[in-house]
Amino acid sequence: MEKREYIFPAGFLWGAATSAHQVEGGNINDWSEWEKTNSARLAKEATLRQAQGINPWPDFILKKYPNPLQEENYISGIACDHYNRFREDFDIAKSLGHNAHRFSIEWSRVEPAEGRFDEAAIEHYRQVILALTAQRVEPFVTLWHWTLPLWVRDIGGWENKKTIEYFTRYVGKIVETLGNKVKFWVILNEPNVYTGNGYFKGIWPPGRHSLIKYLLANHHLSQAHVATYKIIKEKNPVAQIGVAHNMVCFNKFFAGIKRYIYNFLFLNSIKRYQDFVGINYYISDKNTRERTDMNWPVDAEGFYSVLKDVGRYQKPIYVLENGLADVRDEKRAKFIKDHLFFVRKAIQEGIDVRGYFYWSLLDNFEWSDGFWPRFGLVEIDYKTLERKIRPSAWEYAKICRTNKIESF
Ligand code: BGC
Repeated sequence: MEKREYIFPAGFLWGAATSAHQVEGGNINDWSEWEKTNSARLAKEATLRQAQGINPWPDFILKKYPNPLQEENYISGIACDHYNRFREDFDIAKSLGHNAHRFSIEWSRVEPAEGRFDEAAIEHYRQVILALTAQRVEPFVTLWHWTLPLWVRDIGGWENKKTIEYFTRYVGKIVETLGNKVKFWVILNEPNVYTGNGYFKGIWPPGRHSLIKYLLANHHLSQAHVATYKIIKEKNPVAQIGVAHNMVCFNKFFAGIKRYIYNFLFLNSIKRYQDFVGINYYISDKNTRERTDMNWPVDAEGFYSVLKDVGRYQKPIYVLENGLADVRDEKRAKFIKDHLFFVRKAIQEGIDVRGYFYWSLLDNFEWSDGFWPRFGLVEIDYKTLERKIRPSAWEYAKICRTNKIESF
């Protein structure tokens, strides 16, 4: 077959993403507390599931450390120790041709007690940003990736309107101290996933099952976004601000309603207060044969329809997350290329996509699933914390360096 090249627009940003709680290690927040009280239960449920043969984990997952049947799998602990090893990790990203990187600031480190800002933690994040910009890697800074300081949890987190005030004060402090070094801000990560799991299904902190609280938390998150947007713009008018919004491609019956509620309700509520639309895409509702280690369907074409849909906002689009759990690294290179093929197709048709961040740079703590799902371009040995670059990372590096994909 003739080899074809698909070139991306000049200046396209290429990189990978992480989030504080999933990689840093040593965090004390609502999640780390939740892990303490839920890890034994999660391991027990997984063991039962395995014994009953309900969707059992294959050997290639069970032979890795930690695996889903072990309690330590569900405790973030030292994670990848990225808090101390960020320079090494950024050197890896640079060697892989990345020219942008998305990470998050951990609110519980910056403001461990109400109104008490920890200057050393803020200095840490300044160093993180400088480490990126010194290598000419564009930082995309997420201000909230799901975790709350314990004192915010104690007042009811996003159920409480007061949290909006506290959140904007924290962001004000960050932007005052670090704002001149950062152009791209991502205020919230996937508010729809967070409220769905935390307030509706109740499987994540704060573990509520309440439609009212779910709606309330969503409402407060949207208000927090708008208020924060204004504060950042006031301090830095040229800042580019958005949200990282999880989008699913819905094809099935009732797709219209689901699409509207899941994909667009939040985005519509903030639409005048975003300079770009940030999207995280992983799955569609198609029953595809191709599956990830987490049994998520792989639907690259669904990505195209999501991108076309998001075009309605007439704003630049950044893909802030896209990736898969694939411990054997068998599917990752193809997954990336297939998805990028559809990004390029959307661009050709006038959709203004300006960057792509693979999730994730490193294997990391996958929330209530723990460490076993391996999303990284870089493998982490959780016993030694040794980093090992996966072959697919080099395939992606080729794309980043040449700004194009080749047909296969
Ligand atoms: C989240 C990440 C998570 C990834 C894979 C996204 O929903 O932003 O924190 O690790 O998906 O599940």
